Amino acid sequence: MRQSVAAFIDFFNGTFATLNGEPDVANFAVGNPQEMPLPGYVDALRRHVEPLDKDWFAYKLSEPASQRTVAATLSARTGLDWDPADIAMTNGGFSAIAVALRTLVEPGDEVVFLSPPWFFYELLILAAGGEPVRVKLDPPAFDLDVDRIAAAIGPKTRAVLVNSPHNPSGRVYTTESLQALADVLTDASERIGHPIWILSDEPYNRIVFDGRVAHSAAELYPHTMVTYSYGKTLLAPGQRIGFLTVPPTLPERAELRDEIFVQQAATGYAWPNALLQHALEDLERLSIDIGALERRRDRMIPALREMGYEATMPEGTFYTMARSPIDDDAAFTALLARHRILVLPGSIVEVPGWFRVSLTASDAMVEAALPRFDAAMAEARR
Ligand SMILES: Cc1ncc(COP(=O)(O)O)c(C=O)c1O
Repeated sequence: MRQSVAAFIDFFNGTFATLNGEPDVANFAVGNPQEMPLPGYVDALRRHVEPLDKDWFAYKLSEPASQRTVAATLSARTGLDWDPADIAMTNGGFSAIAVALRTLVEPGDEVVFLSPPWFFYELLILAAGGEPVRVKLDPPAFDLDVDRIAAAIGPKTRAVLVNSPHNPSGRVYTTESLQALADVLTDASERIGHPIWILSDEPYNRIVFDGRVAHSAAELYPHTMVTYSYGKTLLAPGQRIGFLTVPPTLPERAELRDEIFVQQAATGYAWPNALLQHALEDLERLSIDIGALERRRDRMIPALREMGYEATMPEGTFYTMARSPIDDDAAFTALLARHRILVLPGSIVEVPGWFRVSLTASDAMVEAALPRFDAAMAEARR
């Protein structure tokens, strides 16, 4: 088994399983809700649960109403005239990535991914028959390193997987850096004789701070496949709905539709449940309180820095990375756990010596945790 997945399973079967849900634990481990769901969320489901026809809960593919809803949002976000027929509804971002990879990758094709990655990229590339090629981003900035990406491209490169806003660093890549990537890929595609795709994984694209806009590579580069999950903006990741799509600028987009359909079936019916699709137009208008998340960031990061932690200031997402005061991030995570704080060891996201903090913790958890972070730092220094 891949090492990062093994570390993930160890953590979730160990420290996480022991502490998750304990009333006195400040839980910063993953992007899970620590408070009750958005009230509007439940209302939206209630409004659509009563069947209006015999097919209400029949097999659902990408429902035309869902496709229209998503296309309208994408058009408004990007200024491109998105075609509803290019939206493939999926049961979450997870399966959108799986289907995108299976659609694009032939056995032995290389897929470049950026480290620190989301936990499952490498596994999904392998499952699609691809060869993962890792490109490191350096802490603490975790900048998109276009030169390193360029150096990793070879004749077998099929795609580059980019995630912005970036889990786990919170970086939001600028249009300039995405354009630099697009330029490199345009040249490289010409050189090697086939298009290199950008797989743009964007589940956090509405979770951005300080008035930022998260731009999509799809605005700049036609051979972009975008993947999205509603699990983040709605903070209801157990309710599985997302999509994958290509921009209207892609010349051969119509030819892809059948293959995407086939791969959705081959991925084990990767379409969302009926009720979530019926409710999508209402769900689309909802969001967690981004201002509250930003205030939590502004409370927590300066406080951690004051205590001596080196911590990134996220531009988007729920996450910040902080450097462990001792080299062994697993040992420091265990020390924090003894102080009733749950964070994710950096090794799981390929950044040993660091840990990841999810700002989905409640404000009360943050207030309870700050003196404990301070005490843990003092203990580590001793
Ligand atoms: C970067 C990234 N991509 C994809 C996913 C998958 O999202 P979902 O579980 O909602 O399908 C996540 C979830 O944590 C993520 O952080």
